Amino acid sequence: MEQAWELLNNFKDQQTICYKYDLDVKVGIIKIQRPKHLNALNKYVISDLEFILEKMEQDKRVRSIIITGEGEKAFVAGADIKEFQNFDYNEAHTLSKEGKEKVFNKIEQLNKPVIAAINGYALGGGLELALSCHIRVASEKAQLGLPECTIGVLPGYGGTQRLPKIVGQGHAMEMILTGKMIDSYEAHRIGLINYNVPSEKLLIKCLEIAKSFIKTSPDSLRLAINSVNNSSLEKGDKIESQNFAKLFKTQNFKEGVAAFLEKRKANYQTLSINSQSREKNK
Ligand code: CAA
Repeated sequence: MEQAWELLNNFKDQQTICYKYDLDVKVGIIKIQRPKHLNALNKYVISDLEFILEKMEQDKRVRSIIITGEGEKAFVAGADIKEFQNFDYNEAHTLSKEGKEKVFNKIEQLNKPVIAAINGYALGGGLELALSCHIRVASEKAQLGLPECTIGVLPGYGGTQRLPKIVGQGHAMEMILTGKMIDSYEAHRIGLINYNVPSEKLLIKCLEIAKSFIKTSPDSLRLAINSVNNSSLEKGDKIESQNFAKLFKTQNFKEGVAAFLEKRKANYQTLSINSQSREKNK
């Protein structure tokens, strides 16, 4: 039986998540709700997501999880740019590393399947959230992309590692280096999403997939997820967090973020970091 939405109340004046269960389908549904900010991921969303994922992972009634965003406009438009605009190297490194530990890698390694129901913009950290999920379904209104390089950062929540695995290095390089957005038809064509459906069918399709898990063994699913994931993300993830944080030292990062917030075009200067030598990754 489908229940009513409940609001997660972990932070007094910042409620960022609501959730419900459909116990006929044995599914938990998580909705990110900061629609005025296009559901951008700030520290409260990350913390609430960690909490609700943990709760649903432990819940024996729940066999799979759906994550979606409030409203028709956005799934998630990325990490919250206002929150990180003045971060230094250490703060940026912590943002990337802790976000991965608390949410992105946690989803990927969860012991039950997680489906992203992409209802609108899935950009930057928002697409990275969807990439962490095991299955992606998008509505025809969805726009997907990793625009981080256009604001002077790079995908810091696992996008440089997961996107090439899902769509191949060629498409991934193009999406990351140009920051371009693609629609749900193109996303389906390159294998970025499993299904492209009309927006009114989005949750119905996700519930249909969730229902098909009921006839499978939870132990099989747990170990199948573990097996599929077992090629190591560890090294690439470490390098990505270091590189993400390095960018916070550059003038181009400050310019990119300022330009976004001031709603103008960025005026980037020439390469400033390591222009003489190749990156040395430890
Ligand atoms: N962070 C913070 N606020 C954001 C946001 C974000 N990622 N995305 C949108 N918003 C805010 C806007 O600032 C705006 O707020 P105000 O009303 O206070 O000005 C509000 O949400 C509505 O957005 P727009 O007015 O910009 O809406 P639009 O329809 O004109 O454009 C959009 C929609 C194309 C998605 C545009 O909002 C956009 O480009 N957003 C940023 C996308 C982005 O660069 N994401 C990557 C973030 S960096 C990242 O994710 C790092 C990482 O990997 C860890």
